[in-house]
Amino acid sequence: MGILYHESSKTFHLFNGEISYLMIVLANGQLGQLYFGRRIHDREDFSDLLEIAPRAMAACPTLGDKTFSLEHVKQELPVYGTGDYRSPAVEVQQPNGSRLSDFRYQGYRIEAGKPGLSGLPATYVEKEQEADTLVVELADTVTGLKAELYYTVFAQGSAVARSVRYVNGGREAVYLERAMSLCLDLPDCDYDWVQLSGAWARERHVIARRLAMGIQSVASLRGNSSHQHNPFLALKRPATTEQQGEAIGVSLVYSGNFLMQAEVDAHNCTRVLAGIHPDTFCWKLEPGESFQTPEAVIAYSCQGLNGMSQAFHRLYQKRLARGYWRDRERPILINNWEATFFDFTEEALLQIARKAKECGVEMFVLDDGWFGGRRHEMAGLGDWRANKDVLPHGIAGLAEQIEEMGMKFGLWFEPEMVNIDSDLYRSHPDWLLETPDRARCHGRNQYVLDFSRPEVVDTIYGMMAAILREAKVSYIKWDMNRSITECYSKALPADRQGEVFHRYILGVYELYQRLTEEFPHVLFESCASGGGRFDPGMLYYAPQAWASDNTDAVERMKIQYGSSLCYPISSIGSHVSVTPNHQVNRQTPLHTRANVAYFGTFGYELDLNKLSEEEIEAVKEQISFMKEYRGLLQFGTFYRLKSPFEGNEMCWMVVSEDQRTAIVGWYRILNQVNAHFTRIQLAGLAPDFCYQNSRDGSKHYGDELMGFGLITSDVTAGEIPPNVAHSCDFESRLYVLKAVEG
Ligand code: DGJ
Repeated sequence: MGILYHESSKTFHLFNGEISYLMIVLANGQLGQLYFGRRIHDREDFSDLLEIAPRAMAACPTLGDKTFSLEHVKQELPVYGTGDYRSPAVEVQQPNGSRLSDFRYQGYRIEAGKPGLSGLPATYVEKEQEADTLVVELADTVTGLKAELYYTVFAQGSAVARSVRYVNGGREAVYLERAMSLCLDLPDCDYDWVQLSGAWARERHVIARRLAMGIQSVASLRGNSSHQHNPFLALKRPATTEQQGEAIGVSLVYSGNFLMQAEVDAHNCTRVLAGIHPDTFCWKLEPGESFQTPEAVIAYSCQGLNGMSQAFHRLYQKRLARGYWRDRERPILINNWEATFFDFTEEALLQIARKAKECGVEMFVLDDGWFGGRRHEMAGLGDWRANKDVLPHGIAGLAEQIEEMGMKFGLWFEPEMVNIDSDLYRSHPDWLLETPDRARCHGRNQYVLDFSRPEVVDTIYGMMAAILREAKVSYIKWDMNRSITECYSKALPADRQGEVFHRYILGVYELYQRLTEEFPHVLFESCASGGGRFDPGMLYYAPQAWASDNTDAVERMKIQYGSSLCYPISSIGSHVSVTPNHQVNRQTPLHTRANVAYFGTFGYELDLNKLSEEEIEAVKEQISFMKEYRGLLQFGTFYRLKSPFEGNEMCWMVVSEDQRTAIVGWYRILNQVNAHFTRIQLAGLAPDFCYQNSRDGSKHYGDELMGFGLITSDVTAGEIPPNVAHSCDFESRLYVLKAVEG
């Protein structure tokens, strides 16, 4: 790993064993982009990679020279309107009304390690040797605005982290109307665009299409990263598969409004932008003030989409997630939400907990409905004190009883919300986000607190911390069940209203930071009506996230498969729930529900008392299986093998670091008769290891399992013999492969 600066050609070369990132100070003093991809040899002068040609209609700054036009130059901090007509990375409104700026190179510095981002989540290092950071200093002389471009290259992995810090070094206030975290100009457009999109209960489906001339984007304007679009995109070569070929992943470490777009220009160059969505953003910078953008992470792979995902998984699991739980196997929990919804008593909860304990569950989580007047959706949010009518011994008393059973206790909060029918609203009606003189929308009958105000964050912190101090709470599920509308803070002046969305998220991060600091052993799981805020920003505080309110195993295959494009398996909250399923009314076998949930944090979302004896035995086996293999399932190297978006079968696997153990999960949606023979080429095994298959005891070398493949045909591939159990719809199997003597 290293960062080189070649003074003679004014070229920067960031590299490690896998990747190179090249930039050049352009003839006009702006910063140009030359290359991002697999590691290449260093040279003193890469300026020939800057393709410049005289073009008709180009806007050129120097009279007599028709070759240099910003429209045709790949840049790191482009501005609209000075020759470049593409979407810019920055836009600054100035006192005279102009939005033109011109950021020229001033100098650079290289720092060992990686500095933190003030108030924002970001990837980090534990030792300076793990990364180097280049800071390129640019400035706009007219306004005095400075831009510091941060690039971190890590010793391990194929990712680069990028952010920008603006400092107003001028004499007058300016307004940042756009401050993207990343601009990556690529020299061609021969890519498929891959996004993770959907809706409530079908989050992060993989959607791919050919990149085409013009702008394509995903975005959120909802105040959260959203169910609809994830702050992630991948550009892959059309021939790239899960295992082979080039792919570039872009991920934004942010939980609020975002924009990620790719613009293909007339000459087949592609500009990728990622950052806070400019449509809802305008930040006033007084002289001397600074603004830090969120961090964007780009990952390069020449080993297919799996290579890209593994780069994100390693970085996000080890150097984005933090704290006590980062590297620890996650407790198997039972959550009462789908078992009871709001309708529970203390005794009913204890009954669920007792049965769970008998089955081997390690933690009981009490979901919504335990506080204030919360017996339904209309009341209670904001009053974070136990409802003694329901819980006569309070949270401390209930937690104590759970602990006495030998389980840990977890608790649900929705800290950012308030119901009109609550003591909090009655005392502070002005703490809502709402626009004066305008109607306001509720979402699920609730309103959003103005987390841009420190006193609001402080008050909620006080209530939550009081419970955590007095009760043995080992886990918090932090929910957020509506998006933001009528965004306006009564505490900010007119010309700072464009800051509210971002200040809101900073307030959320502040509350997370304070709670995780004071209660470092509490495991946080983020949630937003399921997967509405399943993003890297949240991962920094909460190492796991509830993936979706849809707990149906078949639906979950798509949701979890899509999530794995960027997010590690240890972060994917996944539970076994009841059938018929609450969301889609589907009946799926218990083993398939578990086989899907194993590839995540694992737990149960039902009342085990309602299961048959036979089912309880199966649950006990599932739990002991998960206890044995969760280290591998949650922290092993994960490979997607067959996509549920492309056919009737889905397959994925994990491999241990020493490659001696692997678990393959195979799933088939609808049953077939007289079916094709099927096999799956596995990945990540040691070619020379001989693996024994747990299902039938057969032995095969790794090269054979990856070359010929693992046979997955079953009894349906022919006439079904008498006395052979018939397989069914929603069938699935796990294959545990262990290296043995050949
Ligand atoms: C939405 C979550 O995703 C559910 O799991 C549950 O916690 C409900 N909110 C409770 O209101």
